[in-house]
Amino acid sequence: MIQMTDKEFENFCRVMQENYGIDLKKKRVLIEYRMIAEVKKRGMHSFQEFLDAMVKDESKELQYTMINQLTTNYTYFCREMAHYHYIETDVLPNLDKDLNELRILVAGCSSGQECYTLLMMLEEYRLLHVLPSIAMVGCDINNAV
Ligand SMILES: C[S@@+](CC[C@H](N)C(=O)[O-])C[C@H]1O[C@@H](n2cnc3c(N)ncnc32)[C@H](O)[C@@H]1O
Repeated sequence: MIQMTDKEFENFCRVMQENYGIDLKKKRVLIEYRMIAEVKKRGMHSFQEFLDAMVKDESKELQYTMINQLTTNYTYFCREMAHYHYIETDVLPNLDKDLNELRILVAGCSSGQECYTLLMMLEEYRLLHVLPSIAMVGCDINNAV
């Protein structure tokens, strides 16, 4: 039976924090649960074997596997509406009147449900107010979403 050692846990946390800014120090069970299948699938005998192979893997396949396993891509339409209300009541009325394009970056957008919610909200706002054209980019470190 393969179990994650303290050292292996620390190594996963360090790689995720230093390279991607993701703090998993309180997520030991999550790391073990999500990575074990990847370790076994490759016929490896320890988590460290995966980490060592990942460092040498020029294709970056193992790196993306780890990122995809260890990110949580929780997202849904109309999630946490208070944020959209804040944009509607505090941000949009104070936009520079001369702005000819509103450019929005949605960082860490998962599969984009919040992007679409925001666009729908903006288009609804446009029915009653003047808004410049909108350009939106959503991005995510997880290449599966
Ligand atoms: C919990 S989801 C939230 C998605 C949702 N759009 C929201 O804002 O509520 C967090 C997302 O951020 C992504 N993420 C985490 N670190 C990232 C980074 N350094 N660069 C880009 N995306 C990142 C994850 O892959 C995950 O899909």
